[in-house]
Amino acid sequence: MLQNISNSLIHWFIQNKRELPWRKTKDPYKIWLSEIILQQTRVDQGLPYYNRFVKKYPTLNSLAKAPDDEVMKLWQGLGYYSRARNLLFTARQIKLQYKGKFPNTLVELKKLKGIGDYTAAAIASFAFNLKHPVLDGNVYRFMTRLFGIETPIDKLETKTAIMAILTELITEVNDPATFNQAIMEFGALHCTPQTPQCSTCPFNQACYAFKENKIKAIPVKGKSVVVRDRYFNYFVFVTKKDSLYIKKRTEKDVWHNLFDFPLIETTKPLAPKKLWLDPIFLEWTSKTKISKISIQKPVLHKLTHQNLYVTFYIVNITKFLNLKKSPIFEIEKNIINSFAVPKIIDLFLHSFIS
Ligand code: ADE
Repeated sequence: MLQNISNSLIHWFIQNKRELPWRKTKDPYKIWLSEIILQQTRVDQGLPYYNRFVKKYPTLNSLAKAPDDEVMKLWQGLGYYSRARNLLFTARQIKLQYKGKFPNTLVELKKLKGIGDYTAAAIASFAFNLKHPVLDGNVYRFMTRLFGIETPIDKLETKTAIMAILTELITEVNDPATFNQAIMEFGALHCTPQTPQCSTCPFNQACYAFKENKIKAIPVKGKSVVVRDRYFNYFVFVTKKDSLYIKKRTEKDVWHNLFDFPLIETTKPLAPKKLWLDPIFLEWTSKTKISKISIQKPVLHKLTHQNLYVTFYIVNITKFLNLKKSPIFEIEKNIINSFAVPKIIDLFLHSFIS
């Protein structure tokens, strides 16, 4: 039965796979890059980023040498920016500590920043043909349905049960790279979350969820995450000579190392007239007159654990801000596009700059 599953999967894959550039290489650097980009990102969204990264940094060495801000700029729009910071950190570490040679065992791969169980197994199998199973969200769904695993997906026992089956499956195959690609692709394209194509599924005779009419109920969801509300009041100060003020986000928080505007964060929505009385706002504007303020409609920006309610206040000033030791600095408006900014700020800039 298990042997049949592997064979059927590989057969299905050959006929149905998408042609993706990282499937045509054995270069661990490119495979690693693709896997980091594809964490929490759809293939159609990640593909242009992958192509741009490979073009600009064709080798690990070229990435290791790149300036931080340049890499953050190329990552702009993909979200989860810790991936880009870890990518650079790890490229530099491999260059220095591993003499530029990509580690080629699961244990060594897992020691690297940004590489967990899944990514280590993906690199080990795709680049080095090692028999380590990959367990991503797509594989979870397919396996829990096929074998009727009804414990919640966030429980360790669920992962352990699936890994045991996958380990048996992969030991049988000659080409673990293709097997791993195939099982992920099957979950991504055929055994999909909402409308799996059960009637044409090569496994429907064996599938527990199909036979028991439990496709909608399996995989069993885990606990839902707690979502925190935050209110970001951004001040876009514009001087008479059309310069702006920005700052780098150096604190341990979302968008670390990206650039944004002077910000007053609140835990509740605040009336603008309260914001004008905020001590930070009063200090910033203590040496200038304000000639005009326009307030944009608040925008909701959802992150995994946070709802950000973002409002932009465009404040025209006649002189300069009073900044003292603040990390905020002044730039000419026309160079703002060379800074890596969060997506919500990029969207704002599109209408603001034009
Ligand atoms: N998602 C994560 N890794 C992938 C890969 N190698 N191919 C397609 N989708 C993926």
